[in-house]
Amino acid sequence: MLNHGRRHDRIPSLQLRHIDIQGNRHQPAIVQPRIEHTVKTPNRLQPLVEDGLVDEVIRPLMSGKEADVFIVRCGSKIRCAKIYKDALKRSFKKAAQYTEGRKVRNSRRARAIEKGSKFGRKQQEDTWQNAEVDALYRLARAGVRVPEPYGCFDGVLLMELITDENGDVAPRLNEVSMSAEQAREDHALMMHYVMRMLCAGLVHGDLSEFNVLVDESGPVIIDLPQAVDAAANNNARSMLERDVRNMSDYYGQFAPELRDTHYAEEMWALYEEGELHPDRELTGQFAVDTHSADVDGVMLEIKAALAEEESRRQRLRDAEEED
Ligand SMILES: Nc1ncnc2c1ncn2[C@@H]1O[C@H](COP(=O)(O)OP(=O)(O)OP(=O)(O)O)[C@@H](O)[C@H]1O
Ligand SMILES: [Mg+2]
Repeated sequence: MLNHGRRHDRIPSLQLRHIDIQGNRHQPAIVQPRIEHTVKTPNRLQPLVEDGLVDEVIRPLMSGKEADVFIVRCGSKIRCAKIYKDALKRSFKKAAQYTEGRKVRNSRRARAIEKGSKFGRKQQEDTWQNAEVDALYRLARAGVRVPEPYGCFDGVLLMELITDENGDVAPRLNEVSMSAEQAREDHALMMHYVMRMLCAGLVHGDLSEFNVLVDESGPVIIDLPQAVDAAANNNARSMLERDVRNMSDYYGQFAPELRDTHYAEEMWALYEEGELHPDRELTGQFAVDTHSADVDGVMLEIKAALAEEESRRQRLRDAEEED
């Protein structure tokens, strides 16, 4: 099975080491979820604390471009709270490219978004924030390993905190190195996840080694607010190709032959033919059409058709004159 005997190493330069008074190097001082002291509750988490959804804020985990992520305690469980930054502070430039084809179920809401009113902007924000929690529920159901979602409240997504085999916060893919064998195994699993996502009608749209964590059972896909609707978005195919290329290039550092695979093209062709299903075995092979178009031949045929049409008209004119 894929979920035992993992051989990932954190890249040493990225480990948080410190030296004690004797000068001994300690093991990496990676964040321990079971931290005793708590930090002041950020304003955005206050309503969740008041509603009893969060019992305490343990510590900030990461401040990203789109969101601030905190480790929190909910009852006896340690979880992760992702606080979305508002649109003005976000540096997400290509929003239109991603939201194309995204369905807004409520028509009043859809009209407001279209008009761009203040209410519309608020609704757009909510749609954006709900997109991630919706995608997480959908993907978990589709058998893709993502953090388990616990809902999105006031612009805060509560989800499972992904940890490694020691109970430390899981590293991102860009922070680990692995053997060629492990890379092949994880790449195959990742392609399987991407395929299942497509079967569920979604393309991640920002899949890279920065948006994948690694736990005991392998890659865990995160960061999905921009996931696109595969059937309705015209950019879905190119985004799928980019996502898959990023993954094949990343795992290809450890097993170079992975760079020469064509999973995106294979998946998309099957998807378009209605032949893609969650247990489909993929090969990574795809016959790319290398024949260049026979432009000269096509031009000759067009000219011949035009000449034939012209002589038909001439015959008609001749016949009319004869009458
Ligand atoms: N469920 C989780 N468990 C553990 N760590 C997480 C989890 N979700 C997010 N993180 C950490 O927080 C970081 C930021 O999360 P995420 O990528 O979802 O937000 P973001 O603001 O869109 O980030 P960026 O703009 O940097 O991509 C991740 O790179 C990861 O290190
Ligand atoms: Mg991210």
